[in-house]
Amino acid sequence: MANLTRDFFIGLSNSRFLNKSAQKWGFRFGAEKFVAGTDIDSVTRTIREMNARGISCTVDNLGEFVSEKAEAESAKQRILQMLDRIHEENLDCHISVKLTQLGLDIDRAFCLQNMEDILTRAAAYGIFINIDMEDYTHFHATIEVLKTLLETYQNVGTVIQAYLRNAEAVMDELKDVRLRIVKGAYKESETAAFQSKAEIDRNYVKLVKKRLLGEAYTSIATHDHHIIRELEAFIEENQIPHSRFEFQMLYGFRQEMQYELAKKYHFTTYMPFGNDWFGYYMRRLAERPQNVNLIVKDALYT
Ligand code: FDA
Repeated sequence: MANLTRDFFIGLSNSRFLNKSAQKWGFRFGAEKFVAGTDIDSVTRTIREMNARGISCTVDNLGEFVSEKAEAESAKQRILQMLDRIHEENLDCHISVKLTQLGLDIDRAFCLQNMEDILTRAAAYGIFINIDMEDYTHFHATIEVLKTLLETYQNVGTVIQAYLRNAEAVMDELKDVRLRIVKGAYKESETAAFQSKAEIDRNYVKLVKKRLLGEAYTSIATHDHHIIRELEAFIEENQIPHSRFEFQMLYGFRQEMQYELAKKYHFTTYMPFGNDWFGYYMRRLAERPQNVNLIVKDALYT
């Protein structure tokens, strides 16, 4: 049953039609609990509030599946404006981007140029850019684009999804690069990815521990308190310097735990904003079907 619910919401998240339609609906079904606003002004207010509590942010200008160059261009412009805002207001914040929003499915050279424009401005301001990892059909292209960018820029990193069977090999190839380690949010084939929670969790812990023993910066991105406690014990036992890692969680999830972790470690909240909320929100429902009651309440009371 849990797998059916998960597949259902992941199926919805992949619907280009629903993703496009939802942009015109405004927030629905409780999405506003997990999305920090529609525009740069509103997300800036939320970043300031989080910064005041000692929490860094990474903002995601929501959007994926872009198939028109003009759309990718306007996404890039918004990201550049967000960079200007972070710099002008001295916010404790970096940016997460998705390559399919910047034209990966249209033309790789165009996408690369968009990333170079973003990274050049971000480097001038000393701001880091994280490339989120999308579904496996984009995996190799994303890694190739990253490797090209790393020839020129140091302020860029990406995400390793522990459900992928090749995660450890790719993580090792990128051992000097700043990486975020996650379990993985998409539905992938048995050939590409572990399917059981136990195998994914085991690989997650193994990958993070390996990274923590290395030199490069690691973002430990999970809401799983069992895993967090195990990693905290490992950090303590091995005296891992706190300058080498941070914890990350998504905006709107486990708020009390976010505050608690931020008192002990560097902590970053992943903060999506914008009208293109549908795919992101459906993936969150796939992970945690308990959130479906938000949809029901929203449908009943609005
Ligand atoms: P999981 O969903 O496996 O939950 C484990 C246990 O934790 C649950 O059984 C429950 O006990 C507890 N729990 C979880 N959430 C809870 C809650 N809200 N309240 C109470 N208990 C809760 N994915 C991807 O493919 N590409 C990417 O680029 C990213 N980026 C990213 C950034 C950040 C900052 C985060 C936190 C996550 C991502 N992800 C991602 C998503 C990631 O791959 C994964 O799908 C989700 O984080 C869900 O997995 P968890 O590790 O959080 O725990």
